Amino acid sequence: MRTQVGIVGAGPAGLMLSHLLHLAGIESVILECRSRQYIEERVRAGVLEQGTVDLMIETGVGERLRREGLRHEGVWFSFGGRRHRINMAELTGGRAITVYAQQEVVKDLVQARLTAGGHIVFEVDDLTVHDLDSKLPKIRYRKDGVAEELVCDFIAGCDGFHGVCRPSTPEGVITAYERVYPFAWLGILAEAAPTSEELVYTYHSRGFALFSMRSPQVTRLYLQCTPNEDLKQWPDDRVWEELCARMRTEDGWAPALGPVIQKGVTGMRSFVIEPMQFGRLFLAGDAAHIVPPTGAKGLNLAVSDVRILSQALEAFYKSGSGDLLDEYSAKCLRRIWKVQRFSWWMTSMLHVFPDGDGFDQRRQLAELDYVTSSRAAMTALAENYAGLPID
Ligand code: FAD
Ligand code: PHB
Repeated sequence: MRTQVGIVGAGPAGLMLSHLLHLAGIESVILECRSRQYIEERVRAGVLEQGTVDLMIETGVGERLRREGLRHEGVWFSFGGRRHRINMAELTGGRAITVYAQQEVVKDLVQARLTAGGHIVFEVDDLTVHDLDSKLPKIRYRKDGVAEELVCDFIAGCDGFHGVCRPSTPEGVITAYERVYPFAWLGILAEAAPTSEELVYTYHSRGFALFSMRSPQVTRLYLQCTPNEDLKQWPDDRVWEELCARMRTEDGWAPALGPVIQKGVTGMRSFVIEPMQFGRLFLAGDAAHIVPPTGAKGLNLAVSDVRILSQALEAFYKSGSGDLLDEYSAKCLRRIWKVQRFSWWMTSMLHVFPDGDGFDQRRQLAELDYVTSSRAAMTALAENYAGLPID
């Protein structure tokens, strides 16, 4: 099989790239190791930046998002028993975030690609990439036990943090920068109507907690736990008790309880590779970087990477010039490092560190007090949280 761009991975990065390339008249094939049902049900992110929302609407995949997405113009920070609202829209000239689950973004993109005759091969095995520094790189894989080869002009490695593309680059080409945090998040989805219309990030001496949602009937909640937490130690009653102990405020606000429909633990890490390219292999999304979830940025970064990559590929096919492709990595990394900084800062401000002491606790409380009272500090938070410009 032959295509212009071979895409490994049908997560938000791979699917959005294929969609943008199609709009630019460029052919691609997506190879995904999981089933369609699996990727459409995988529970992950929930917060879309303004730029991600705008891109989905502008490129014709935002109809359901516009109908079902929950636009939030503010965000709350809770500490010392009180909640404080930051009015994002007012501070940023109307920018906001939208709560719309990642699996819904994935469903909308899969539907759009298949309706437009796009080519997604699900459930491929043993995928490997070859001849990356030649003009005809190749992807080999097995489908239903049969060996296949896809010959491409370019390969986009959109296969997430545990994918095969990044480790296929020769030793020494890529440098990784990493920070692993000494805690994780225990997350639940609950059939309970959200008791706040906007997200609430809580700092508490027992640890961080986050109130989010998926719909007017479903609440999404997280609490800081240890990195290797055993879920068996967390029956639903204990999760609710801990969430309420951390989140309840002096005015009596707390999440509403309800049946828990999903439970999981997410590790926390900051990770960036430089450069994000080797020969004709371009890495995008979680394959190239991971942010701790506190800033809600992973999906959004994946989308901004592939937006930059699609523009560079479009320029290549239109004019034959590889200049924008050569700039891909540097252009992405400038934005990625700012988003890394923000995600690290939010994480450091809101979590209890195992080696932290009274000094750290008071410093964190002072920072939260400043960030929720100084207009300059609130504006800096709001413009990062709603999303920095792509260019
Ligand atoms: P992925 O979504 O990981 O997609 C990679 C795809 O490649 C997968 O479908 C995988 O099956 C496939 N693949 C892997 N290996 C192979 C192979 N060898 N062959 C073929 N296919 C392969 N981000 C936000 O922006 N906002 C949030 O609120 C947020 N919350 C989060 C909460 C949780 C609990 C978690 C876990 C993550 C959260 N994130 C959030 C991060 C976000 O989910 C990721 O950053 C996002 O999924 C990255 O998209 P991607 O397409 O780069 O990678
Ligand atoms: C979510 O709703 O899953 C969510 C929201 C905000 C975050 C992380 C995750 O910072």
